[in-house]
Amino acid sequence: MSEFPKNAAARVTLNDGQTMPWIGLGVWETPPDKTAEVVKTAIDVGYKAVDTARLYRNEAGVGDGLRDHPDIFVTTKVWNDEQGYDATLRAFDESARLLKRDVVDLYLIHWAMPQQGLYVETWKALIELKKQGRVRSIGVSNFEKDHLQKIIEETGVVPAVNQIEIHPVFQQEALRAFHKEVGIQTEAWRPLGKGTVLDNEVIGRIAKRHHKSPAQVILRWHLQNEVIVIPKSVHRERMAENVALFDFVLTADEMAAIRTLDRSDGRMGADPAHPVF
Ligand SMILES: NC(=O)c1ccc[n+]([C@@H]2O[C@H](COP(=O)([O-])OP(=O)(O)OC[C@H]3O[C@@H](n4cnc5c(N)ncnc54)[C@H](OP(=O)(O)O)[C@@H]3O)[C@@H](O)[C@H]2O)c1
Repeated sequence: MSEFPKNAAARVTLNDGQTMPWIGLGVWETPPDKTAEVVKTAIDVGYKAVDTARLYRNEAGVGDGLRDHPDIFVTTKVWNDEQGYDATLRAFDESARLLKRDVVDLYLIHWAMPQQGLYVETWKALIELKKQGRVRSIGVSNFEKDHLQKIIEETGVVPAVNQIEIHPVFQQEALRAFHKEVGIQTEAWRPLGKGTVLDNEVIGRIAKRHHKSPAQVILRWHLQNEVIVIPKSVHRERMAENVALFDFVLTADEMAAIRTLDRSDGRMGADPAHPVF
């Protein structure tokens, strides 16, 4: 891996030579009229990246919050109903306008939506946007191994990132191993299991031992697995807590104990093979 992150500003090098922060703020379900303020608070407590999407309806708020911060890394995503070559190019224009950015750092296909049969064309549009210099890096989200193989085979371009659901009860080891094999950086969405794993007994015991919160233990576990995290919070203290991950190290035994929490039925979001929204 790139050097292990030493602080919230540390960046990982992607397969296209670009770099991105290991930690970002997720803004799903952050109300559009509060998003600018939340983003400014996050920057104030040390965040260097923000993860949004067309779906979240708060790209304009992210753009407002980032107005004086061109250095903050921003990710957005094309939603399912705007897949297809031309529709994606148009969707990107709108996202860039709302974000007030000429160049977006990372643009992702939100879901493969195999039933639509459009994700290869959509991927070609992302390749074009990168060629035009309108995005620095391109990637995908919620892609399974077969979706990844298909876009790589058809275009020869390997996504820089796959943003997938990962938390202690749904660890996605097989997909992470495939990412490693082909050079895709794994990014975890819902890294805290939306708060549902914070009261887990194993996590609690480890947290106590390190005098850290359960959220900090979980986020540190992701980083030690070489996974980028984008925890969401609208509260300043929690945002600050979620980037304070660099003054403790989980032991091999603690990593192994968390590994045992994985469950085959632990998925919380949609199944990427048959997503229904
Ligand atoms: N690509 C995709 O399909 C996809 C899907 C889902 C999410 N995402 C991205 O991933 C981001 C994170 O996922 P998520 O928002 O679903 O869930 P999450 O980050 O796992 O958890 C967020 C929840 O945990 C609470 N929380 C945060 N920090 C906490 C702490 N230190 N202590 C206690 N509670 C804490 C938050 O509450 P408060 O806000 O009230 O503090 C919120 O309810 C999203 O915002 C979005 O950017 C992507």
